Amino acid sequence: MIRCGPRRTTPPSPHERASGPQRGLRLARPACRLAARGRLEWTQPLPATQTLRLTIREVPLSHTRRIIVHVATSADGYIARKDGSFDWLERPRPRGNYGMAAFVRSIDTILWGRKTYELALAFGDKASAFGKPMRNCVFSRGLLRSVAPGFELAGLPLGEFVRELRAVPGRDVWVMGGAGLIGSLLDEGEVDDLVLHVIPTLIGEGIPLVAPRHRLVPLELKAIRRFPDGVVRIHYAVKGAAAPRPATRTTTRRTPRKRRRRPTPSR
Ligand SMILES: NC(=O)c1ccc[n+]([C@@H]2O[C@H](COP(=O)([O-])OP(=O)(O)OC[C@H]3O[C@@H](n4cnc5c(N)ncnc54)[C@H](OP(=O)(O)O)[C@@H]3O)[C@@H](O)[C@H]2O)c1
Repeated sequence: MIRCGPRRTTPPSPHERASGPQRGLRLARPACRLAARGRLEWTQPLPATQTLRLTIREVPLSHTRRIIVHVATSADGYIARKDGSFDWLERPRPRGNYGMAAFVRSIDTILWGRKTYELALAFGDKASAFGKPMRNCVFSRGLLRSVAPGFELAGLPLGEFVRELRAVPGRDVWVMGGAGLIGSLLDEGEVDDLVLHVIPTLIGEGIPLVAPRHRLVPLELKAIRRFPDGVVRIHYAVKGAAAPRPATRTTTRRTPRKRRRRPTPSR
């Protein structure tokens, strides 16, 4: 059990779950750190004794990184027009911008296909575009010889590179795209999740989500969320994706201390 400050009666919002405990809830430091990583389960409502009982799942302290394709597609399954343009993506964003801030907090590495990287540069994007230190890895089979400051050219074959990434503790990895890189990663068996933001627009033709090739990749539906502007976020996990590394250290479930029985008054 961890003592906390004010009594809380409402469950935390998804934003709080992602960003950690609300101000005013005084949690012991390790708990704060876990909460910031979204690793705490909150039990509701708080017990009247003003004690917050935190159930800590068995969580590897060295987080097993997930390789996440996180993109927007048209309703007919394209990520860009044939010429690479994405005018159909330019639309007012609802409040919260589809939870992008929380997602960006959850990652520390971005994987770029060479064409997507070049397009981003052409639009004036910088390695620091996401406002925090980030590893930006660009993949090319040989066309690229150097990359812009803040980016790194992957020096290993794709599969090997990602397996090395997984071997180092860290946050999740964002596969920015495009279709070519996503296809290559799927073929290497190195995608864990696909988070697709389906824009309610048909564009008729374009670059499909995944570069075409004969494949069979079973997916498991993890979550669906509908946003007020009609965008739908579909979260799939790839069935049988690369097995997570065994955890090096784990926290153990903390069971609340048993309450001492009050001695019955002797007569
Ligand atoms: N809607 C969205 O959310 C979203 C997100 C990202 C991108 N996009 C769009 O996607 C489009 C680009 O997609 P794309 O499929 O044409 O290109 P891409 O995936 O960005 O880049 C393809 C290039 O990546 C490199 N590559 C791919 N597999 C590789 C491997 N196994 N090892 C090493 N390098 C590898 C190759 O570079 P080399 O040719 O140099 O060998 C390949 O030509 C852009 O128009 C962009 O706007 C949309």
